[in-house]
Amino acid sequence: MTSRYRQYAAPHLYEIAFDTNRKLEVDFLVHCFKRHATIPVSRVLDIACGTGPHLIRLADRGYQMSGLDLSAENIAFVKQRLAAKGHRGELIVGDMSDFRLERPVDAAICMQDSQGHMLTNARLLAHLRAVARAVKRGGLYVFDRYMASSWTNPARSWSWSKRRGRLIVRASFSALNDVDPVSQIFRERMTLEAIENGTRRLYRQSHLSRMVFPQELRALVELVGGFEFVQWFFGFKRHQVLERSRHPLMMVVVLRKT
Ligand SMILES: C[S@@+](CC[C@H](N)C(=O)[O-])C[C@H]1O[C@@H](n2cnc3c(N)ncnc32)[C@H](O)[C@@H]1O
Repeated sequence: MTSRYRQYAAPHLYEIAFDTNRKLEVDFLVHCFKRHATIPVSRVLDIACGTGPHLIRLADRGYQMSGLDLSAENIAFVKQRLAAKGHRGELIVGDMSDFRLERPVDAAICMQDSQGHMLTNARLLAHLRAVARAVKRGGLYVFDRYMASSWTNPARSWSWSKRRGRLIVRASFSALNDVDPVSQIFRERMTLEAIENGTRRLYRQSHLSRMVFPQELRALVELVGGFEFVQWFFGFKRHQVLERSRHPLMMVVVLRKT
């Protein structure tokens, strides 16, 4: 058995393991583009695109996609996936708190709580400023964030397995471990076990993430300027408005560039 600890070092296994709710999420993103942008949306930037679950599906639906990620391995993986489908896209290895695009986009997305990598308010503000620069007026920024639904034990964990051909990937993921109540920083842990033809490989990853509270997020968005708040949701369905949930596990936020 081999074991690796590098961050996001197994894009192929990650892509299989996290091929979960993606169609529903993309349906919701497309609904937001049509319903809430005041300009037609055709160019979209996927921030922290990872292995491209949203980017590829949006490209399949005819959107011109750009992707940004800190991991060169992930960007190379997405480049291959796009090319294999005959799509083109601008793929950038870069930091979500400090990037500039050659051409602005009509919408940006940042999925699977990837904004959590911004471990301080200063980094999150820099990120929001960079996105505001990249999106055209009337365009959207849509992202999801984990939320603490309990004050006593906010940690949550999931285990599941996926099969693709002969390859089985057993995944376990936990978030909101060891929350520091002052910095709001917590630990995420992920294990991917790949079983194929009698061989097992194990990838472990653990990193820090940070949660923001809903009202704090609203205040930070106002502080940055350049965006108006449109709506937030506790899931990827249009009627799931955040205020209607008693125990939200996530917030999906829709902002519009002013
Ligand atoms: C939880 S994964 C989500 C990937 C993808 N959005 C998805 O829904 O599967 C987080 C991604 O953020 C990327 N990342 C981490 N820090 C980053 C940063 N400062 N700037 C850009 N990307 C970053 C990682 O490389 C990883 O691909």
